[in-house]
Amino acid sequence: KKVGVLISGSGTNLQSLIDATRDPSQHIGAEIVIVISNKPNVEGLKRAEKAGIKTVVVKHTDYPSREEFDAAMTVELIAAGVEIVCLAGFMRILSNTFVNLWRGHLINVHPSLLPSFKGAHAHKDVLAAGVRVSGCTVHFVETDIDSGAIIEQAAVPVLPHDTVESLQERVKIAEHRIFPLALKYLATERIHLNDDNSITWNY
Ligand code: GRF
Repeated sequence: KKVGVLISGSGTNLQSLIDATRDPSQHIGAEIVIVISNKPNVEGLKRAEKAGIKTVVVKHTDYPSREEFDAAMTVELIAAGVEIVCLAGFMRILSNTFVNLWRGHLINVHPSLLPSFKGAHAHKDVLAAGVRVSGCTVHFVETDIDSGAIIEQAAVPVLPHDTVESLQERVKIAEHRIFPLALKYLATERIHLNDDNSITWNY
């Protein structure tokens, strides 16, 4: 399956997807054909270029509305023949039109054990709540933020002297393991998103 990855930053999850999809022993069944960033000059774009993958910058500030920004990304994705879209640290909210167009073929990695700690400050909220276990989730994207059907999760301990940075670093190690795994389930058609937002597992 041809995959497009949307990023906004360092792209360590992108790197894990590049490495896994290129490792024949992992049988991911997917090839990344395009990486789109809404921000220029980010580290993730350099990772894609180094891997010889087509990169496109679609700056949200160049478009008058969210719909038009998303439509510009869809044009690029379709031109590249994309069948699955992965959000890997993409920090823009997507329009309902975009989400509905790619529904069932659009997945995101979130740095908490959903449905706990939704939103853009998960690690900060986890530390403030004092929970001793956090983790990460790969899920189908729904029009409600961070609330689509869950494909894969991993638990990660929260340690007594953790900062946002130290916790993020530990959680990312788990993200880099489960994101390729979730992509594999989708690309090899082991999972299917139903209309009622449940997942059918074919194994
Ligand atoms: C990850 O922690 C992801 O869960 C969150 O943003 C971060 C992106 O990191 N949505 P990277 O760009 O993949 O390094």
